[in-house]
Amino acid sequence: MIIAPSVLSLDYSRLETQMKEVNQSGAKWLHYDVMDGHFVPNITFGPDILSGFRKMSDLYLDVHLMISDPVFYCDRFIGAGADCINFHEEALLDENRIRDMAKHIHSLGKDAGLTIKPQTDVEKLKPYLNDFDLFLIMSVEPGFGGQKFMPSALDKIRTLRGWLNEKNLNAHIEVDGGINAETGAQCREAGADVLVAGSYIFKNDMRKAVISLE
Ligand code: DX5
Ligand code: ZN
Repeated sequence: MIIAPSVLSLDYSRLETQMKEVNQSGAKWLHYDVMDGHFVPNITFGPDILSGFRKMSDLYLDVHLMISDPVFYCDRFIGAGADCINFHEEALLDENRIRDMAKHIHSLGKDAGLTIKPQTDVEKLKPYLNDFDLFLIMSVEPGFGGQKFMPSALDKIRTLRGWLNEKNLNAHIEVDGGINAETGAQCREAGADVLVAGSYIFKNDMRKAVISLE
């Protein structure tokens, strides 16, 4: 399993110390939640802060754009050091725009991820199985850390892994929201291979938390 600690749960008054711990935790990815106060009812950080994280860590930077206009902001986040741009199906809706965005991200040499919220049918991902490196299944309503895992994500993961296997595709399936040792094991069993974890990692001994999810 690839573990992606979410910087949303970091104690920003102890940024440097916490980032050192993350770097030594054994986690391979770092999950960076961008919220615009419009697509979701919360505001976080933009590309300039991302470039600061880029300097503090060599981990793979997994940028989750919870914003209404991912097309406009994509290049700024790539310029700031993103390795993967995850955007929401619900933000673009249009098949051509979604595919063009994936092509654009690939043309810049980065990985592309497509994300769905808990209320969105997994069928919405089906047209894009060949177009993305990663599919992110939200297991809480996006906007805040520390929420309870929604088990409805598990069926979506199973369905999606089935489709990918049928087509011999090995795209990542990432799960985000309410992940701990128990829900993480359920997601793994359902077919996910990347787990985002915010509060579970930052409110426990990081190294132990990462090992318990792997
Ligand atoms: C929620 C974010 C998540 C969040 C997860 O909108 O996308 O990445 O950090 O936090 P936990 O693991 O605490 O649910
Ligand atoms: Zn996220």
